[in-house]
Amino acid sequence: MANPYMDWTEFEREISAELKARYESIPDDLQKIDFLTGIRDAKSEMMNLNAGGNTDYSLPHMGEAYAIYYHMQRADNIFLALSKINESIEFPAIMKALDIGSGTGGGSTAISYWLGQYGTSLVQKEATVYGVEKAEPMSKMAASLDHRLRQRLQDKRVRLLSYPLSKTQTAIEQLADEIFDLIIFSYTFDVYDPSKHGEIMSRVLRLTRKLNSNGVALFLVPNTSVKIEFMQRIVSFLEEMGMQSLPVNIDRGCFCASEKRPSILRNACLYFNAECNRLGLPEIYVIPDDFPYYGFFGQCFALTWRGSS
Ligand SMILES: C[S@@+](CC[C@H](N)C(=O)[O-])C[C@H]1O[C@@H](n2cnc3c(N)ncnc32)[C@H](O)[C@@H]1O
Repeated sequence: MANPYMDWTEFEREISAELKARYESIPDDLQKIDFLTGIRDAKSEMMNLNAGGNTDYSLPHMGEAYAIYYHMQRADNIFLALSKINESIEFPAIMKALDIGSGTGGGSTAISYWLGQYGTSLVQKEATVYGVEKAEPMSKMAASLDHRLRQRLQDKRVRLLSYPLSKTQTAIEQLADEIFDLIIFSYTFDVYDPSKHGEIMSRVLRLTRKLNSNGVALFLVPNTSVKIEFMQRIVSFLEEMGMQSLPVNIDRGCFCASEKRPSILRNACLYFNAECNRLGLPEIYVIPDDFPYYGFFGQCFALTWRGSS
């Protein structure tokens, strides 16, 4: 897909530049060893996600590990979902979105790409994305990547405003009067104790009340049975409350990036491996699955209040 604004490769380049800038600003090898060890620890903790489990996002270098491995894959997934939703509901050129569990800002990346892709070059397009994220290493990386993205987009008639917020409850209070076109829950939910399900579902319902009548709540979940079961409970609950499900069928493995294996992010992995070799550490990225890739391997649900009385 041709994009007149930025393509995935440019986003990958910014992520790689941010990671290298962080690493190269470290003054001595002992601290570089701590950084590389931190990325390795975060990466192995993060792999619990691939096994359907939970992850400790507060580990110091989780932002870097996630930005390399998942950020672009998630942005690609969200972009694909927005493209499908747009077949039944048209998003406005000036869009306001709320990203719950925004992580490193994959939602902002997807929305800015999406606006560039679908608008006309004559219309000024604008997205305001409020990211709600509780883990500081993730929100700090999101702030760095958003800053880079804004600089790249400033001449391109896409204005991106991102506001990182802290906890969900605080965000609900801070955004009391705001109404949104889109609320994203992209791989946000953990595996929870069933006694907490009711409380989480009612918080999700309260958030969806912030949608305008054409607004969409988008949920992306991994394909693991326990997370899918909980997601289906949330969807049934929201439907009982009057929301309507929109059809969003994304083929397994589908991606919009130009290649399956992102070579720029892969090079960032190889760069850190080379630094590990230089400093006498074991390499971080070893087996093929340690390296980032694109593709949709989860499930997608979208709901709207449109048509409800
Ligand atoms: C798997 S990551 C997904 C990040 C991002 N949405 C994406 O698709 O790349 C889940 C994120 O949700 C955050 N999170 C989970 N529950 C949250 C809550 N109640 N409030 C804020 N952030 C939350 C975690 O800290 C983590 O960064």
